[in-house]
Amino acid sequence: MPATTAAKPGSPANHATGADGSPAQSHSEGFPKTYPAPPALATPTDLTAEQAKAVTDAVNPIIADAFALYAKTKNFHWHLSGPRFRDLHLLFDKQATQVLESIDPMVERLRKIGGTSIRSLSHAGQLQTIQDDNDEFVGPQEMVHRLLLDNRHIAQQIRAAAQVADDNKDIATSNLLETFLDDAERRTWFLFEIAQDQERVG
Ligand SMILES: [Fe+2]
Repeated sequence: MPATTAAKPGSPANHATGADGSPAQSHSEGFPKTYPAPPALATPTDLTAEQAKAVTDAVNPIIADAFALYAKTKNFHWHLSGPRFRDLHLLFDKQATQVLESIDPMVERLRKIGGTSIRSLSHAGQLQTIQDDNDEFVGPQEMVHRLLLDNRHIAQQIRAAAQVADDNKDIATSNLLETFLDDAERRTWFLFEIAQDQERVG
């Protein structure tokens, strides 16, 4: 991932979207186009090229965001401190694993409709809308807060991409994204409740 400034939660500017509020597009200067694919990778599909491109463009930024969110959640898993260490250390690990496991099915979904995806972490860095977090130290309550905002953001991105898939008759992709939307909302729910508990205790 490229070096970026640390995320400052709560600012919409942290989360890049298209000018009209739609998800960021997957075209990125200096990296391979994710659609159309080279002939050897152009898996046949009954979707039109326009439909397959729309879905590929909508899903690839989510894949990049999943890489970014995985790295951030693991970062907090590793660099956590304080009396709630054990609970949060385990929760962040579980959430990171869930995010990581969403990546392969999303990429392979795109391959099934003749799209391609991210080639490297630097490619992901060009497409991600969740910013990396390079702060030297983040307190546990702030970690929970930042992850809550990022998970809420990725849920919003997934919901928008599922709508694009629906609009383009790609119901298999929208079904897959529905599962990941539910997962993102579950992560947000847990983080929200933990944030409340910390406020009561603190
Ligand atoms: Fe670990």
